Amino acid sequence: GPLPTEVGRAKQLQYLYLSSNNLSSGIPDTLGNCDSMEYIELDQNFLSGSIPASLGSIRNLQVLNVSHNRLSGSIPKSIGSLMYLEQLDLSFNRLEGEVPEIGIFKNVTASWVDGNKGLCGGAAKLHLPACPVIPSNSTKHVTSTVLKVVIPLVSMVSLAVVISVLLFWRRKRKKIYMSLPSFGRKFPRVSCHDLDRATDGFSTSNLIGRGGYSSVYKGRLLQDGTIVAVKVFTLETRGAQKSFIAECNALRNVRHRNLDPILTACSSIDSKGNDFKALVYEFMPKGDLHALLYSALGDENTSNSERITLAQRLSIVVDVADALEYLHHDNQGAIVHCDLKPSNILLDDNMTAHVGDFGLARFKAGPTQSYFGDSNSASSTVIKGTIGYVAPVSVAGDIYSYGIILLETFLRKRPTEDMFKDGLSITNFVEMNFPAGISQIVDSDLLQDRPVATKEKDLDCLVSVLNVGFCCTKLSPSERPNMHEVAASLHGV
Ligand SMILES: *[C@@H]1O[C@H](CO)[C@@H](O)[C@H](O)[C@H]1NC(C)=O
Ligand SMILES: *[C@@H]1O[C@H](CO)[C@@H](O)[C@H](O)[C@H]1NC(C)=O
Ligand SMILES: *[C@@H]1O[C@H](CO)[C@@H](O)[C@H](O)[C@H]1NC(C)=O
Repeated sequence: GPLPTEVGRAKQLQYLYLSSNNLSSGIPDTLGNCDSMEYIELDQNFLSGSIPASLGSIRNLQVLNVSHNRLSGSIPKSIGSLMYLEQLDLSFNRLEGEVPEIGIFKNVTASWVDGNKGLCGGAAKLHLPACPVIPSNSTKHVTSTVLKVVIPLVSMVSLAVVISVLLFWRRKRKKIYMSLPSFGRKFPRVSCHDLDRATDGFSTSNLIGRGGYSSVYKGRLLQDGTIVAVKVFTLETRGAQKSFIAECNALRNVRHRNLDPILTACSSIDSKGNDFKALVYEFMPKGDLHALLYSALGDENTSNSERITLAQRLSIVVDVADALEYLHHDNQGAIVHCDLKPSNILLDDNMTAHVGDFGLARFKAGPTQSYFGDSNSASSTVIKGTIGYVAPVSVAGDIYSYGIILLETFLRKRPTEDMFKDGLSITNFVEMNFPAGISQIVDSDLLQDRPVATKEKDLDCLVSVLNVGFCCTKLSPSERPNMHEVAASLHGV
């Protein structure tokens, strides 16, 4: 059915994700009243009618995707005046008429209009046919002057725009290239070719992980035998390029014992002429926390010594808290990880935890500003990440994810488990059993076969730790402790 006109009353709504439904009729005019809106994704529906010009009054709009619909009519020029618009996808509709040449429309890498038969004009790079000029008798002279003067001028300006966009890209690329040596602390220089050989041509037998934007391979460098993890970005996936850049930027200036250290990066063109981008990390032999928690499950042969002890789990959550405290507070401009989950927590030989996978990381303005509650400060954050661990409020979101991971580590229960539904979450579950029932709900491995005296101490410790996790997840974003406080409490335990 149609998108109701009442949507315009949702003044606080920031994200409207209704992709791949069966919405029909027109996009209501009233949508333009949603002042807080940042993301509108209505792609893959059956929307018809024209795009309302009122969308041009949603000041904060960053992404508008109405591709794969049946929208007709012309493109409202007002969209070109949206200052914060970063991506505009109007592709595969029935739009016609002139493509505006202002704002987002000037940037052909950020706006998509392909798959519309009737469009003309627009930035030269779009290669659309020129719009027909309809001369009327009285203005014939003017028109010919326009043709003689304006067209060369417009072509020169578009050429200049194209050249400056190209220069801009080159500079951006160069920046990535130039930053590479700073990664390579005491690390042999490797080429993309070396990486290819180190991983047997990125063979599937060396594949150790796969994410939305990348695949990770284990490899041994021929130079000095170092074992590395090579993360290759799947650049065909939209967003992968952004993810590579986000990760480079996030890791360029960070150094912390609990962050997965990046050794070098590599960016080139492969033998088939495709772009190739990869990041090289130290290999973490003990795998990730998710595998560690669950691989032993159902495996009869796992001896007690292979299970992770209370002390080890405590040390892991403290390591992660230290890493997050550093990211949130010790940088010029805090870094928000945005995708914390057990599989992004990697363990080295000494079982020291390292936070990895910064492909969704975001920078926040300054560490001194208020992180919470302010809806504007969250404007650079996108709801991405993995279901079960994500709350959509930037720094507070990282803290929430952290809390969930902490509870999960000691309960050995995934937040997405079947039992957590109909209002019961891992947080409520802990709350309901706190503190008397804690011994019943924690991972049974933890308290098994422990002498009575130690058991008591262990339980005290568990109660204190789970309380921290509980505060991170139960309290509202503005009341949540920050990572300074979280790390301090855990070190206390
Ligand atoms: C949605 O549209 C598709 C394609 O027209 C159709 O097959 C499907 O039944 C529709 N679903 C609903 C719930 O109407
Ligand atoms: C818009 O939606 C289409 C179809 O779902 C998708 O392929 C495309 O990547 C989206 N565009 C942007 C800019 O995200
Ligand atoms: C064009 O869009 C791309 C992708 O969103 C963005 O990175 C770039 O900064 C934009 N270029 C200009 C000149 O605004």
